Amino acid sequence: MLWYVAAALIVLLVLRQAQLRLMLSRAKHRSLSGHARLSRLVTRLIPYYEYDETRFFCADDAPAEVAARRREAFMRLAALYAQRYARSAALTREVAPAVSDLQFTARYRVPFQFSRMVRQHLQGGAFLESSAGTTLTDVDGNRCYDLGGSYGVNLFGYDFYKECIEQGSARVRELGPVLGAYHPLVAYNVRRLRQISGLDEVSLHMSGTEAVMQAVRLARYHTRRRYLVRFCGAYHGWWGEVQPGVGNPLAAQATYTLKDMDAASLRVLRARRDIACVLVNPLQALHPNASAPADSGLIDSSRGAAFDRAAYAAWLKALREVCNARNIVLIFDEVFVGFRLAPGGAQEYFGVRADMVTYGKTLAGGLPIGVVCGRRELMKRYREERPADVCLARGTFNAHPYVMGAMHEFLARLDSEPVRALYRDLDAVWQRRARELNERLRVAQLPVQVAHLSSIWTINYLQPSRYNWMFQYYLRAAGLALSWVGTARLIFSLNYSDADFAAVADRVVAAAEAMRRDGWWWPGTTLTNKAIRRRILRELLQAWWATSAIGSRSSPRSRYSGARQ
Ligand SMILES: Cc1ncc(COP(=O)(O)O)c(C=O)c1O
Repeated sequence: MLWYVAAALIVLLVLRQAQLRLMLSRAKHRSLSGHARLSRLVTRLIPYYEYDETRFFCADDAPAEVAARRREAFMRLAALYAQRYARSAALTREVAPAVSDLQFTARYRVPFQFSRMVRQHLQGGAFLESSAGTTLTDVDGNRCYDLGGSYGVNLFGYDFYKECIEQGSARVRELGPVLGAYHPLVAYNVRRLRQISGLDEVSLHMSGTEAVMQAVRLARYHTRRRYLVRFCGAYHGWWGEVQPGVGNPLAAQATYTLKDMDAASLRVLRARRDIACVLVNPLQALHPNASAPADSGLIDSSRGAAFDRAAYAAWLKALREVCNARNIVLIFDEVFVGFRLAPGGAQEYFGVRADMVTYGKTLAGGLPIGVVCGRRELMKRYREERPADVCLARGTFNAHPYVMGAMHEFLARLDSEPVRALYRDLDAVWQRRARELNERLRVAQLPVQVAHLSSIWTINYLQPSRYNWMFQYYLRAAGLALSWVGTARLIFSLNYSDADFAAVADRVVAAAEAMRRDGWWWPGTTLTNKAIRRRILRELLQAWWATSAIGSRSSPRSRYSGARQ
């Protein structure tokens, strides 16, 4: 009898495990970024190949006349770049061989098949001399509107941050770089952070990545559960556990990557008992389930960003409810969006409260920072009843006096009238600007539209094309400074006036018109996103065959000339 009961229990247990496994599978996004292990495997198989100088201009099988027009335009742009960025490009050439970061960003600005030609001919520079208002000036003296936004740090304009750093430094000068003890300004910073986050305690770190690490570590410590849940495509810094897919050579130990904004993920959260925390990056509201876009991934025109505030707020509310019901720690990672959407961050903007919030980027007035705010019982790093069972977090530079000084200036200015004025009608202002620009682009019948989450913008392409990545070079030529991800992310600072914005809009429209005139958006009748992807897959297979052990005997080189087989 006992055996029967034991056997029945084992069968039930196995069935339950199978059911949980199935639920987990259903909650994975079907894209590769929803499958961390598989994506790493697939990327390891993708062979390098590149287009030769002929194919470069007709990768979409455009007629010879169009290819010639493109070639001429490309060489014209190359001449412009060579003359305009001479000093900066020379410095970049000198430094890049010893700086892998520069090599990496140079290589991944455009799809790899086009990259060599672009690197050879369209050399911009990485060196800037000064910033003022909404503009940057490079070492060649070119002044451009800044749309790179210093990775999101630049929220109120560079002059604001220069003041924070200068005045903050003056406040802590007497103490200097003494670490371990705190400068008295920390008391003010902590008080303000508690007010802003609505949470009890604060811990100070040096980067957003570290803040996320600490929030997750604390959640695991207090819940005594292993797994963190992140949503497909979301960036939370470069710590391995939050970057389980491409980019990290190792598999994450205890991370589930689930579909964003999907009921199947709520079912997993409701059913499993091993989940410590859910990490949410509210920036994903602009492109749920897609990775932070970069123009190197613009192989076709399928980028389709769109933001729906009500839908995302409803999703956060559903997450809040399930986390409450299952004692899962809900962490908002506001390193990017904190202070940008509203003075109270995403919690205020979407009307949902988290158990822990991470901040970074702009918060320390332009100096490096990461902060965790959390409920008291989650922030504690030891257990009263088990004195040896602690949750460690250190960092030599945590609460550095100069960082605390600049943070003090940032937080004090948040309440000032000029900064409050920048927040006034924030959504309405950016919506109007996006609407007006989109209308101009539509009327001019240009195949480009912008999508945005407040002051964070991205460019969508409406017509299937292999050359959308060229748009970033036209925008730069028109005097707009972009980050290395190109048109994927335009970050405006809130000090953009209507006049500044109008100047940017004129340049975007002019750049798109020039790009169309030069033939890059040739509308081939058989060109669809699907056909483009199919074609690239075929090229990949050919390149793989050419470089594989068998194929390489007959064809050692994988430079693609476009001969159809
Ligand atoms: C949402 C989010 N979390 C964490 C990080 C990592 O911050 P840091 O680059 O300061 O380490 C970033 C950086 O872009 C981010 O956007």
